[in-house]
Amino acid sequence: MWGGRFAEGPSALMREINASISFDKRLWRQDIAASRAHVAMLCAREIVSQEDGDAIEEGLDRIEDEYQADGVPEDPSLEDIHMHVEHRLAELIGPAAGRLHTARSRNDQVATDFRLWVRDAIDETELRLQALQRALVLRAEEHVGTIMPGFTHLQAAQPVTLGHHLMAYYEMLRRDRSRFADARARMNESPLGAAALAGTSFAIDREATALALGFDRPAANSLDAVSDRDFAIDYLMAATQCALHLSRLAEEFILWASQPFGFVTLADSFSTGSSIMPQKRNPDAAELVRGHSGRIAGTMVALVTVMKGLPLAYSKDMQDDKQPVFEAHDLLGLSLAAMAGMIETSRFNADRMRAAAEAGHPTATDLADWLVRRLGLPFREAHHVTGRIVWAADERGASLWELPLDVFQAVDSRIGEEVFGLLSLEASVKSRTSFGGTAPASVKKRIEAARKVLEMKS
Ligand code: ARG
Repeated sequence: MWGGRFAEGPSALMREINASISFDKRLWRQDIAASRAHVAMLCAREIVSQEDGDAIEEGLDRIEDEYQADGVPEDPSLEDIHMHVEHRLAELIGPAAGRLHTARSRNDQVATDFRLWVRDAIDETELRLQALQRALVLRAEEHVGTIMPGFTHLQAAQPVTLGHHLMAYYEMLRRDRSRFADARARMNESPLGAAALAGTSFAIDREATALALGFDRPAANSLDAVSDRDFAIDYLMAATQCALHLSRLAEEFILWASQPFGFVTLADSFSTGSSIMPQKRNPDAAELVRGHSGRIAGTMVALVTVMKGLPLAYSKDMQDDKQPVFEAHDLLGLSLAAMAGMIETSRFNADRMRAAAEAGHPTATDLADWLVRRLGLPFREAHHVTGRIVWAADERGASLWELPLDVFQAVDSRIGEEVFGLLSLEASVKSRTSFGGTAPASVKKRIEAARKVLEMKS
């Protein structure tokens, strides 16, 4: 490619450290697409003859078929995917192949290919996120009235419903989708035609190539265009945030599937056994999702650190931008799919959840609120009165709803029979009708809205 100025070829080590084909071959589709757009524009601008342009396009079609059928054959003497395609093109069509690289550099080429790849990756992730949201919505709908303990500090706090709990993750994934969508919209500018760094003296048409590749417009500064990797970092940051959500969801399933909780039984198809303990059913998929999230966050840190301190414009450090993104994308795709599969196939144990929700006086807040509403006590005083009743219950080893009325009245004589109507878990949950609260009627509404957004048939 640059033999003119060199007397000697690269050493084996130079070749090895320089080569990126082992991983950037994943860009082959995008590389061919960008070359097609480029050569069509060169012909339209009469920079390359139509005859040569046709030969190049036919050659690119051939290469596409070959790669599609057999993958990219790795030649260690050709550094990267761009050189592989161009070299094969020369084998197929002869010297006309050399015209493809007019008014172009590998710097704008790789920036273009990689953006196209990340854009496709976002579109794929969007579909996987939707699939997981659908799985959550379906299970939430099924369990809109299933009572479970809601925790703070992992201590029983107030009863909630499983439907409400699962829908919390729907909301997190909704924000993830919006982050990926933002990243996609921001990155959709074409670097092609920025050439090495300064633009080109050929009368190219950057609007045309941008349009042909589905970009909104050409990037406005050639130096920025070839050195910008914000889009990859945006992607990794969105992926990290999403992985963090998946990790929290995975952690819940790991806890819930443990014997002391027993809230969920994972399907055989999403459990693993132990080679020594025959009774074991381990939540390995969830644990790996939790583990993968750490690796995904690591890819984000890796690329941020690679880019930090690079002067304009292109530096070879930037070749190290691809592996973190590929790794994050693969891990995230697998994690999203595995979580969806796990959620679709899990059996929730409503009895265990209910029993756990009964422990620890979870409706004490309901009693305090009632004292405020009914007896007009200031909340602080109501809190104190309720605390004394909770104390009395603990001394008897009873739940609030099991206490005889005189125990309540010994603390505050104004408390009457009607107090029992609000101490049950069902009453508590049902009363949480404030917007976004756990009342089944409210959660149902949110589920309906989610179903519409996700275009789910009812
Ligand atoms: N393989 C290179 C990369 O991924 C392509 C760009 C090479 N450009 C250069 N001036 N050496 O970054």
